[in-house]
Amino acid sequence: MKHLISIDQYDYQALHTLFENVSKEKYGFIESNYPKKSQIATLFYEPSTRTSASFHSAAIQLGYSVLPINEVTYSSVTKGETLEDTIRTIGSYVDLIVLRHSEKGAAKRAAEVSTVPIINAGDGNGEHPTQTLLDIYTIWKTFKKINGLTVTLMGDLKNGRTVHSLIKILRHYKVKINLISPDSLKLPKEYYKNSDIEYSIFPKDLQTDILYVTRIQKERGSKEDYKLSYDELISLPSNAIVMHPLPRAGEIPVLFDNDPRAKYFEQIKNGLLVRKALLRELLI
Ligand code: NCD
Repeated sequence: MKHLISIDQYDYQALHTLFENVSKEKYGFIESNYPKKSQIATLFYEPSTRTSASFHSAAIQLGYSVLPINEVTYSSVTKGETLEDTIRTIGSYVDLIVLRHSEKGAAKRAAEVSTVPIINAGDGNGEHPTQTLLDIYTIWKTFKKINGLTVTLMGDLKNGRTVHSLIKILRHYKVKINLISPDSLKLPKEYYKNSDIEYSIFPKDLQTDILYVTRIQKERGSKEDYKLSYDELISLPSNAIVMHPLPRAGEIPVLFDNDPRAKYFEQIKNGLLVRKALLRELLI
């Protein structure tokens, strides 16, 4: 049985195998005798639009059915049921559980007791590996390479789980990483210790290939506020791209949405394909 708990589970080879599978998914080149499993659960203890909807949609498109549990407030969780007991219960009904939880480490705890694969769909301020899979796929698809690129991560680097997983996957490539955040929301040291990568904190200009913007995680106690102006965004290099896991809370003005460098809506589309490929991989 395979779980996806941390992006650490992906090395260069596994990632590029996934990219191939995503392409097959896109063009429908899947062998017809591919095994089918019947049901997945989306168990969400925190709000979600894209992650839960895309897993749901991916499962339906693969011919699986879905048990969506988004309103845990209406479940025995409000009666004090532990995560472990909830996982054991849901795992008796389905073949795989997609779990989002407000505590770092929750997906790992779930995997320890689960009889079915667990996919970490975000654990507090820990990681968000499936977002990273779609992010890195979007980068690879746009530039046809990853080595040699400059990636600028901007926003709540302390509590933003999408940047935590993204920075980990970038260890497999030769990239330059710029980190821009309010002082109180700097990236924790554990995430950027890698001697092969050149990090720059608060680079003086936005000479970058990728500007990856994140929301301030108010629900995790982050307080600062910041916004990028339309003028700042249009002055990015002409072949740069702007990414955001969404939801945005004013960091990127809507006016920029039609700029060809805005990739955040394409990320969403890629997310569906990546999650389809991932579900197949884990349900073999
Ligand atoms: C992100 C998350 O939940 O971590 N959203 C997402 O899954 N696309 C980003 C965020 O909430 O800021």
